[in-house]
Amino acid sequence: MLRKLLIGTALASGLAFAAHAEDVKEVQMLHWWTSGGEAAALNVLKGDLAKEGYAWKDVPVAGGGGDAAMTALKAMVAAGNYPTASQMLGYTVLDYAAAGVMGDLTETAKKEGWDKSVPAALQKFSVYDGKWVAAPVNVHSVNWLWINKAVMDKIGGTEPKTFDDFIALLDKAKAAGVTPLALGGQNWQEATMFDSVVLSTGGPEFYKKAMNDLDDESLKSDTMKKSFDNLAKLVTYVDPNFSGRDWNLATAMVIKGDALVQVMGDWAKGEFHAANKTPGTDFLCYRFPGTDGSVIYNSDMFGMFNVPDDRKAAQVALATATLSKSFQSAFNVVKGSVPARTDVPDTDFDACGKKGIADLKKANEGGTLFGSLAQGYGAPPAVANAYKDVVSKFVHGQIKTSDEAVTELVKAIDDAK
Ligand code: GAL
Repeated sequence: MLRKLLIGTALASGLAFAAHAEDVKEVQMLHWWTSGGEAAALNVLKGDLAKEGYAWKDVPVAGGGGDAAMTALKAMVAAGNYPTASQMLGYTVLDYAAAGVMGDLTETAKKEGWDKSVPAALQKFSVYDGKWVAAPVNVHSVNWLWINKAVMDKIGGTEPKTFDDFIALLDKAKAAGVTPLALGGQNWQEATMFDSVVLSTGGPEFYKKAMNDLDDESLKSDTMKKSFDNLAKLVTYVDPNFSGRDWNLATAMVIKGDALVQVMGDWAKGEFHAANKTPGTDFLCYRFPGTDGSVIYNSDMFGMFNVPDDRKAAQVALATATLSKSFQSAFNVVKGSVPARTDVPDTDFDACGKKGIADLKKANEGGTLFGSLAQGYGAPPAVANAYKDVVSKFVHGQIKTSDEAVTELVKAIDDAK
C-alpha cells in the first residue's frame, strides 16, 4: 500500500527540485523526541550540526513510540515533501525502502567504515538491497525496571529476580501506600511492557519463536496464555488514572517517588538524567525479572530520503555526524540508550549505561538479542499494530480472559501478515 501511495510522488519531487544549484545548508528532521530527556539528547545533534554550519528545521510530532509521527511522515512523503531524514524504527525503514523513496548513503558508509562498526542486527534494518538507507542512532532496550531508590529503601525491597519476586515487591509498595507500578495506558506502552512479560514467562527461545518468528504454535500456546495471566497480575498494581498517560509522566511518578517502578525502555533513563538523578543513589535499573542475559532491543534510525541533489550534502553531514564516535557517546549518555557502534568506549556512561553496553555485547554474542515486537523490530508495522491493539484491549478489559486474548492475537496477526 505504501508503495502505491508513494511511487508517483517520488518522481514528481525529484523533478520539482532538480533545478536548484546551490547546496541547502539545512537539515529537516521529523521525529517524536519531545520529552525533556529526548529534547536534551536531540540538542546534542543540533549543536554538532550547527558547528558545521547546518541549520536545523525541526518537525516534531509528539507521541511516544512514534505512531503519530509515522502518520505525519506518510502524509509528507505522499505529498512529495521529503524531510532530510526521519526517525524510524526497524521494519518501517524497510517498508519505505521497498517503496523506492529512500536515498543511498553507501558511499558515506564505506568512507566511514559502518560495515565494520555497526552490529549486524542493526544493518539488517539500515541496509536495503545492498544500499545504506538509514543511519542507526542508538540501541535502546526495553526489558528494564526503573525504580525509585528512596521508596525501595522505605519498603525494604531488594532486586526481584523472578516474576514472583516482582509481585512480592509490588505488594510491599502497595502495603506502604505507594502506587506500585507506574504505567501509561497507551497501547505502545502496554505492549512494550508485555514484550518483557513474554520473555520472562517463556524464556529466550519462546520469545524468539512467538515474537520474532510469529510461530503459530507458540502464539497460541499455554505459555502465551500464562504471559497474559502475568500481564493481568501486573495491571492490578497500576493506579486508577493510568489511561492515556504519557510515558514520561509515568517516569516522573517514579522520579518523584509517587510510584515505585516503571517497566519501560531505557529512554526512561533519559528522563532521570534530565532531572539530574544518579543511578545507585536516586534510582535503580534492573533487568525485568527473569530476563537477565537477554536483551530485547530497538534502535532509532534516521531514515534518509531520496532528497534532491542540493539537499544531499546536508544529508551526508547528518549521517556522518550521527555515526561519529564522539556523537555516539555524547548523545547516548543523555538519551539513555547505548551506541549503535561496537567500538565506542563506555567511559562517559553511568552505571546503567555501562550495564546496557555490556548486556548488549553479551546478548549479541550469545544469541539472546531479540527485536522488540512493540517497538518495530519483531515484525512489520501491520503486525506490530495488531499486537499492540490486542494487548491494549486486554489491559483495558475489552478482552476479558487470557484464552480470548490468545485467540484474538493469533487472528489479528494472521490478518495483518
Ligand atoms: C521509542 C524510541 C525512543 C523513545 C520512545 C519514547 O519508540 O525508540 O527513542 O523516543 O519511543 O518516545
